[in-house]
Amino acid sequence: MKAVGLTHYLPISDPNSLFDFEAKKPSPRSHDLLVQVKAISVNPVDTKVRAPKELVEREPKILGWDASGIIIAVGKDVTLFKKGDEVFYAGDITRQGSNAQFQNVDERIVGLKPKSLSFEQAAALPLTSITAYESLFDRMKIDFSGSDKGKSILIIGGAGGVGSIAIQLAKLAGLHVIASASRPDTIAWVKDLGADEVVNHRQKMKPQIVELGSEYIDYIAIFNDTDGHWNDVVKMIKPQGHIVSIVESKAPLDMSLIRSKSVSLSWEFMFTRSMFETDDMIKQHELLNEVSSLIDAGKIRTTLEVLLTPINAQNLKKAHELLESGRAKGKIVIAGF
Ligand SMILES: NC(=O)c1ccc[n+]([C@@H]2O[C@H](COP(=O)([O-])OP(=O)(O)OC[C@H]3O[C@@H](n4cnc5c(N)ncnc54)[C@H](OP(=O)(O)O)[C@@H]3O)[C@@H](O)[C@H]2O)c1
Repeated sequence: MKAVGLTHYLPISDPNSLFDFEAKKPSPRSHDLLVQVKAISVNPVDTKVRAPKELVEREPKILGWDASGIIIAVGKDVTLFKKGDEVFYAGDITRQGSNAQFQNVDERIVGLKPKSLSFEQAAALPLTSITAYESLFDRMKIDFSGSDKGKSILIIGGAGGVGSIAIQLAKLAGLHVIASASRPDTIAWVKDLGADEVVNHRQKMKPQIVELGSEYIDYIAIFNDTDGHWNDVVKMIKPQGHIVSIVESKAPLDMSLIRSKSVSLSWEFMFTRSMFETDDMIKQHELLNEVSSLIDAGKIRTTLEVLLTPINAQNLKKAHELLESGRAKGKIVIAGF
């Protein structure tokens, strides 16, 4: 099968950073679905895993943790899907990724592709939807059915892949959404997705929040630069409020700054359930099916913004470069082989 891989971890400008190669088509293990990949999307996890280091792979490593496609075979213990089903999923960081014609993925982290979307539009969604959904509803325990209606949330990095879906989910839960964006087109994008108000993350956000008429924010989702925003976040969060971060901090965060307010901090890592095969791993299957239903009901929409074809090293390099610029808006999808 065709695949894009790496053996050396190099800057994306290096001609050998990613290359096209022929890989062996995998066979499904017990709970696996073997999926013919139709479209993929790229995420900062791809560039972080690819980041330059001394390590050398003996067999090419396949990146990619977002795909849509068709099931062509199933493992012997599969119960949730059948051959021919159209699916979308992010996959498992400990296994080979989706930048290949065929991929094995555990059925418990796969959802049925929204019927109303093309494979390209669907591939934009899984990883960021899982991250946004788990951040809001599993980690911060916001009530999706509406009992937290009217509470405020600040989404830092609103126009990014995760922010773009989180804005829509937070609005559905009835929250007052303040999104951060710093450029005219990302400001327009977050407003179009439903943000009630916008602040600029290139400046201190606390004075901007006060200017908007709020002393404190009930929930803060840090979807970019945890270290850079921490001191501002602890000032903005409401006493007894909840902060979630999806971005690793490079230095220890000063926890004493949230103690007197009795604020909770949760980390969200969307690979936790698959990486540790947690007892509730199947929640990602349920979550993706729910996202699929919300899409088909017209309640949320795809965040696809840039589409490249075909899936090859050249286009993946373009996508990695765009992500590494820090200026992506919505999602970059690559389709077809
Ligand atoms: N823990 C997890 O499970 C998980 C899952 C997904 C992603 N992540 C991490 O979350 C981060 C965001 O992912 P993503 O897919 O949303 O990224 P992305 O799509 O590449 O984000 C791009 C956006 O980030 C904004 N941005 C750039 N610098 C910023 C800053 N200093 N403060 C706030 N916003 C800034 C930009 O907005 P402007 O152009 O308006 O400045 C741009 O629209 C990455 O670090 C990624 O690795 C973690």
